[in-house]
Amino acid sequence: MQTWPDSPRPDDHERLGRRFSDAVGCDDGVGDELAQHDDRMPEVMDLQLNGKRALVTGSSGGIGAAIAHRLAQEGATVVVHGRRSGPAHEVAAEIRRRGGQSETAIADLSEPGAAERLVTEVLAGGPIDILIANAGPFSEHRFFEATDEDWTSSFAANVLSAVGCIRLAVPGMRERGWGRVVTVGTRAVPTPLPNMVEYSAAKAALTNATGALAQELSGTGITANVVSPGVILTEGLRTMFTDRAAAAGDDREWSDLEPEITTSYAPNLVGRLGRPDDIAAAVAFLASPLADYITGSVLRVDGGITKTINP
Ligand SMILES: NC(=O)c1ccc[n+]([C@@H]2O[C@H](COP(=O)([O-])OP(=O)(O)OC[C@H]3O[C@@H](n4cnc5c(N)ncnc54)[C@H](OP(=O)(O)O)[C@@H]3O)[C@@H](O)[C@H]2O)c1
Repeated sequence: MQTWPDSPRPDDHERLGRRFSDAVGCDDGVGDELAQHDDRMPEVMDLQLNGKRALVTGSSGGIGAAIAHRLAQEGATVVVHGRRSGPAHEVAAEIRRRGGQSETAIADLSEPGAAERLVTEVLAGGPIDILIANAGPFSEHRFFEATDEDWTSSFAANVLSAVGCIRLAVPGMRERGWGRVVTVGTRAVPTPLPNMVEYSAAKAALTNATGALAQELSGTGITANVVSPGVILTEGLRTMFTDRAAAAGDDREWSDLEPEITTSYAPNLVGRLGRPDDIAAAVAFLASPLADYITGSVLRVDGGITKTINP
């Protein structure tokens, strides 16, 4: 929630500079110089999203819902999108109950032209400053099981849906000289999952296209980045794991199951499964004016499951 003014008070620079000099134990004016350099530096990490309007696809549940809540908490008006209207309206109502601002839009993004229709409808209600292309359904197929239809539908829902939204949302951002596009990738991009072959490949295409988009948007004030989740505990994923355990005769509580699932299914450096809020925090930061100098990047939020320091 926005609780601090957008711009620092006139004496903030001096105080920030003094604080830096105190911290490094010197009085050579370096702190003053640093403070003078960044006249936007707020006293706290206020994400400055007041007055921005954001469309988050697939935000009626899972990770998208957490992103919608986080952006709203930070002051943005959020358009909650889902395929079904019931859950979308529930998330939007919960945002308003918590003091935020929300709207809803409904579309099945796997249908041809649906992304364009969705964005056109959302633009009729106001500008889109922030586009979070989060919707990205997956299905499990191995290489020699996946049919042409599986490949086509995965690319439609994961790639073309995002591309369609971007195509229509970006021109308005260009006119205003500011905007944010964040696509949601997966750890399956750098390390393809053999049991999710077409999904891994579709997300790789989306990640690559986001990099090309960032270059296309050079100098426009619009950034384009990818957030790449590891294994994130949504309701859907929890149900999948508990059902599998139950089918194997294991009826332990989730708190007992999770450590074992983490070790066997998602061994990572933090030692737990991710939470939707972990992803939401990263997305909100990239959506903020504070992330002005980050574009064309992939931010891995995966607990270190991807064993590389490289992008
Ligand atoms: N969870 C993970 O571990 C994980 C890991 C890596 C990457 N990701 C990525 O993170 C993103 C969010 O994942 P999630 O786990 O939160 O997914 P999720 O729980 O399956 O997402 C559900 C949301 O997506 C919407 N949705 C699903 N299919 C849609 C379609 N065809 N058209 C429009 N909306 C659709 C749902 O709307 P309805 O409820 O109305 O259908 C709902 O709002 C996805 O891009 C996913 O690939 C997730």
